[in-house]
Amino acid sequence: MKIKIQRESIVEYEVNLIDATLLEILNEIKTKQDASLTYASGCRSSVCGSCSMRVNGREVLACAYKVEDGDFVEPLKNSPVIRDLVVDMDKAYAFNAKAKAWQNSLSPTNLLTQENEKINEIQSDCILCGSCYSACPVYAVNGEFLGPFSLTRVWRYVSDVREKSPDEKIETIQTNGIWDCTLCNECTLVCPQNISSKSDIEKLRSKSAQKGYMDPNMSSFGGGFGTSFDGSPSF
Ligand code: SF4
Ligand code: SF4
Ligand code: FES
Repeated sequence: MKIKIQRESIVEYEVNLIDATLLEILNEIKTKQDASLTYASGCRSSVCGSCSMRVNGREVLACAYKVEDGDFVEPLKNSPVIRDLVVDMDKAYAFNAKAKAWQNSLSPTNLLTQENEKINEIQSDCILCGSCYSACPVYAVNGEFLGPFSLTRVWRYVSDVREKSPDEKIETIQTNGIWDCTLCNECTLVCPQNISSKSDIEKLRSKSAQKGYMDPNMSSFGGGFGTSFDGSPSF
């Protein structure tokens, strides 16, 4: 079968492997045809998140995706390409720190029950593959947007009953955070762990509203306080 790979230019390779994963095909090309082909991988079992890339415009894990004849393979979007299929995700990972996406202070009295654990079990499964950042149209145009996995991680700790200062985290996600998301759901569709950052962002919006925050776009909608949507004075 033939596959095309986006390197400095598009290169076509022919590989005679049947029912192979993309990672197996890339290994075959690297060992038998072109040792300079560069890509990342680790666990080969969808656990480490290092082999994410795009096939025909869609984010996949190379170790899980079964190649079809004519597939076009590219690096993730929205992060600088280091070489071939390897991108630099450092900027996106740094958003975890900016969003304070960690356990801040542990309450010694609020103990975790099995029921509590279920609230944010799936968010703890993120493998930092970066697919959601690649698929996110808001991150594509605003490099300061905190983005899907950082906001999911914030929800993971905001919803943790042991966290003593969730309000501090809620405050950090008001700018370039939850209100900038368009709720398009692209992040959910590409996540190999079935995490829905969109849904976590909705929960964070609801929590923020309970704390008195509001969508800054809505605050100017209709011309401001004392004005109705059509611009006439309201009562
Ligand atoms: S739902 Fe929000 S975070 Fe997810 S891809 Fe769309 S804009 Fe990005
Ligand atoms: S949320 Fe999903 S798509 Fe995003 S980095 Fe984590 S595992 Fe990957
Ligand atoms: S090699 Fe670890 S997720 Fe694919």
